[in-house]
Amino acid sequence: MTVLRGMRSGTRLATPQRDDGTAERTEPYGDIKQRVQRRLLAELSPSVETNNIPEVRRALEQIFNETIAEEQIPLTRTERANLFEDIVASILGFGPLEPLLQDDSITEILVNGYDQVFIERSGILEETDLRFRDSAEVLRIIDRIVSPIGRRVDESSPMVDARLPDGSRVNVIIPPLSLVGPCISIRKFPKTALTMDDMVRLDTLSQDAATFLKACVEARLNIVISGGTSTGKTTFLNILSGYIPGHERIITIEDAAELQLHQRHVVRLESRPANIEGKGQVPIRQLVINALRMRPDRIVVGEVRGAEALDMLQAMNTGHDGSMTTAHANTTRDALRRVETMVLMAGMDLPLRAVREQISSAFDMVLQLERLTDGTRKVTTISEVQGMEGDTVVMQDIFRFAQTGVREGKVEGFFTATGVRPRFSEKIEAAGIILPANTYLPTGKGAKH
Ligand SMILES: Nc1ncnc2c1ncn2[C@@H]1O[C@H](COP(=O)(O)OP(=O)(O)OP(=O)(O)O)[C@@H](O)[C@H]1O
Ligand SMILES: [Mg+2]
Repeated sequence: MTVLRGMRSGTRLATPQRDDGTAERTEPYGDIKQRVQRRLLAELSPSVETNNIPEVRRALEQIFNETIAEEQIPLTRTERANLFEDIVASILGFGPLEPLLQDDSITEILVNGYDQVFIERSGILEETDLRFRDSAEVLRIIDRIVSPIGRRVDESSPMVDARLPDGSRVNVIIPPLSLVGPCISIRKFPKTALTMDDMVRLDTLSQDAATFLKACVEARLNIVISGGTSTGKTTFLNILSGYIPGHERIITIEDAAELQLHQRHVVRLESRPANIEGKGQVPIRQLVINALRMRPDRIVVGEVRGAEALDMLQAMNTGHDGSMTTAHANTTRDALRRVETMVLMAGMDLPLRAVREQISSAFDMVLQLERLTDGTRKVTTISEVQGMEGDTVVMQDIFRFAQTGVREGKVEGFFTATGVRPRFSEKIEAAGIILPANTYLPTGKGAKH
């Protein structure tokens, strides 16, 4: 990564407190860099194809050498090389973000205006001492992120979702909507997707629960993965979808395609936001309706947020078993309430009881993910949706994480079955899957999981 050599000064991660921005920047030869960079940008011929990195590099190098010679800037050979790489990185790459993007231990990058950058590592947010020169530099990088997808970010369209070439998900929002300057939120695309074995190793769930979930997918249960933001819903959906047998036709529907399924027979659909004139939007709901005409065996919807919930329910209730989705909610019961609200908002004027009946017969299981105070992510509850009793949907917990305390900032606890045998265990058996006899027995405190 020679391009990054000059950027090391920007990657130091320290100073938890934010300084007031008046302190001198310690970046080496910052002033020369600015002058040279301005000149490079001014002189770089617009005819140079900016996607052709080697060509741009050559053009930049030439102008750079001329500038250094003309201005008689005294630099050692190393300084000169570092300065050049530094400039190339901020013109060509994603500038100061580049080293953060290269660092695989970082999972999220959050830019809140030019002078504040946070990252997430091992589930914990920390502030970096990385700064952009000014808002214009952030905007330039934003431009580089969104232009490949034919988008522009400006006052008239100040919010955009995009993706980096490696698949990382990006959201951009700029003033006047953002009051702290241009903001970039990047969810890094994991180079190697987490597997269920990783999840068990990371103590996200017990091996018993993992084996049970695999059986649930194979037995074609309809599953909702619930959790707050960044709790690992998409990652989990990806892992569970991986258990869908290879002979089935899978249709995935997402806002920004993140799922990476390895089966041969997968059709991936992605919704489309409205263009600058406000036209051409294709929402998730329309894709769900369309997917039903594509002879799916399974429909996997990245996240239900709105009216598509109704269509998903109808799909699940009309023979598309084994479908899966995620929802933003804090408990498994809350997830069903959220779906209920979404359905009511679909504007079909359905009576509440009818909606609840649809929900209780569509979903078999809801799984809750949480990010705990120590940054670890856990499957905290796995609940069965049993049916209706009067006007309420009856749920029963099958597995849960029992927290026993917190020691030195680390959450302690254990996973256990609740002792309840789910009604759908019959479906699992009918699918010819035999789970260990003690699957549903509580392990008790201190037991190995
Ligand atoms: N069990 C886990 N242990 C550790 N890290 C995890 C785990 N699950 C997911 N992650 C990481 O957490 C981050 C968020 O994961 P993911 O995108 O799946 O969350 P999400 O709930 O779908 O977020 P959003 O609400 O933004 O869609 C990713 O960087 C992912 O690699
Ligand atoms: Mg997600």
